[in-house]
Amino acid sequence: MALPSFIIVAIDGGAASGKSSSSRILADRFNLLHVDTGSFYRHITAELLRRDVAPTDLPALRVALAAMQFSTRLCGRSAQMLIDGQPAGDEIRSQRVNAHVSHYAAIPEARHALTGYQRGQTDVARQHRFRGLVMEGRDIGSVIFPDADFRFFLHAAPAERIKRRAAEGGQDSIAERDRLDTSRKTSPLTCPAGAVDIDSTHLTLAQVVEKMSVIIATKLTPA
Ligand code: C5P
Repeated sequence: MALPSFIIVAIDGGAASGKSSSSRILADRFNLLHVDTGSFYRHITAELLRRDVAPTDLPALRVALAAMQFSTRLCGRSAQMLIDGQPAGDEIRSQRVNAHVSHYAAIPEARHALTGYQRGQTDVARQHRFRGLVMEGRDIGSVIFPDADFRFFLHAAPAERIKRRAAEGGQDSIAERDRLDTSRKTSPLTCPAGAVDIDSTHLTLAQVVEKMSVIIATKLTPA
């Protein structure tokens, strides 16, 4: 069977399940563009909050989203989304954004606004001569790239995830975000059929990455 020359790795999972850390390491190891789609939802959330557009005000939300111009710049190996030419600020990791992001992310119009942009990251990766991309989120293996070459789903016990987030020094509404993300109608957080499901509760980051790397490496020819 012919091996793909450009590979797409999809990693989905709940809040603080280890997606970002593992996808960054995979990006380095396999020369992939790292795409954190949670940061995209966080950026539009910060922008909508700044413009005072409530998630319940659909007409205003549609107008605001339609007016936003998305572009990408590289930050190391990671894709950074610009809205109207501006990068996201530190506030995208704030408690305020943590508390609001899943409400905006549940709105089909908000998801739709980002769909093409997320798929277009393959062009960014090709343009910058990466071997492929690793994209993390909630619906990457189910909706954005259902035909991805590799699809992983990470989960971990809630207590373990809260501990990890606290160790990072962050405060987060993990349980509430997971509740909203799994129960929404459009693109809910779920392990897609056929994805490799990894329970990282009792695994170190290195062990999680090793499991993924072995699966990826066995199907790849040398870069
Ligand atoms: O990955 P992170 O925890 O930063 O994502 C923030 C929020 O963005 C999630 O809780 C979810 O509501 C939303 N999100 C999403 N779909 C994605 C990525 C993130 O709905 N693909």
